[in-house]
Amino acid sequence: MSALVIDGLTVVFGAFRALDGLSLAVDPGEVRAVIGPNGAGKTTLLDAITGITRPKSGRIHLGDGLDLTKRSEAEIARAGVRRKFQKPSVFPALTVRENLSLGCGPGCPAATRSARLAAALSETGLEGRADVPAGALAHGEKQWLEIGMVLASEPRVILLDEPVAGLSDAETARTAEIIGTLRRPDRAILVIEHDMAFVEAVADRVTVLHEGRTLFEGGMAQARADARVIEVFLGR
Ligand SMILES: Nc1ncnc2c1ncn2[C@@H]1O[C@H](COP(=O)(O)OP(=O)(O)OP(=O)(O)O)[C@@H](O)[C@H]1O
Ligand SMILES: [Mg+2]
Repeated sequence: MSALVIDGLTVVFGAFRALDGLSLAVDPGEVRAVIGPNGAGKTTLLDAITGITRPKSGRIHLGDGLDLTKRSEAEIARAGVRRKFQKPSVFPALTVRENLSLGCGPGCPAATRSARLAAALSETGLEGRADVPAGALAHGEKQWLEIGMVLASEPRVILLDEPVAGLSDAETARTAEIIGTLRRPDRAILVIEHDMAFVEAVADRVTVLHEGRTLFEGGMAQARADARVIEVFLGR
């Protein structure tokens, strides 16, 4: 059974179809990358999954059948679907630990909270930065903190929008390692990225989006060899 199923999803802005009958399914334990040219509809897909944008038609459901298109943003988050936005959105005046604590959510019991904080600090490698205000972190560390905030909620679906945009090669390699440690048999990870070396390092499969539709789905090596993918995207 898939962890996340997108079925015939269409999102329109006026007369423009940002997503046009898109279908894709992510397995539990899988890291799936969604790649494609600017404007292909990648961020729109995450907006639809998280309830920010309502689709015109189609379904989005979790493994247990919960239809996200009928749920509010808060209900979708409570169901364990968590997102890292394209621009890091940490709270600069709060420390790393306080930001992670927010990721746990308000109803989290103290013992659970401290266990999750410890796990998020260790998985993101931010243990030594726990008491530093987030505003004082390097750009890469901010990205990792935001991943940590997602983790602190114990998500079953993680959505990452361009997690290595603007990072150095070393920070990008470190981010790939972090994403490797987020894999779990009961968790699906969907990552949008333009950095193809990073995608190759982290993703089990790639979905190439073009004009709101799937152009290709399969391994990154096959994507690189696919004539249509080269024509609309990789060859540019
Ligand atoms: N709120 C909106 N109103 C109107 N058009 C929108 C809106 N949001 C997105 N679009 C349009 O939908 C298309 C898809 O945008 P989207 O942001 O999903 O692309 P993307 O694949 O994430 O691109 P990028 O790689 O540049 O981030 C674009 O043409 C964009 O201009
Ligand atoms: Mg985008």
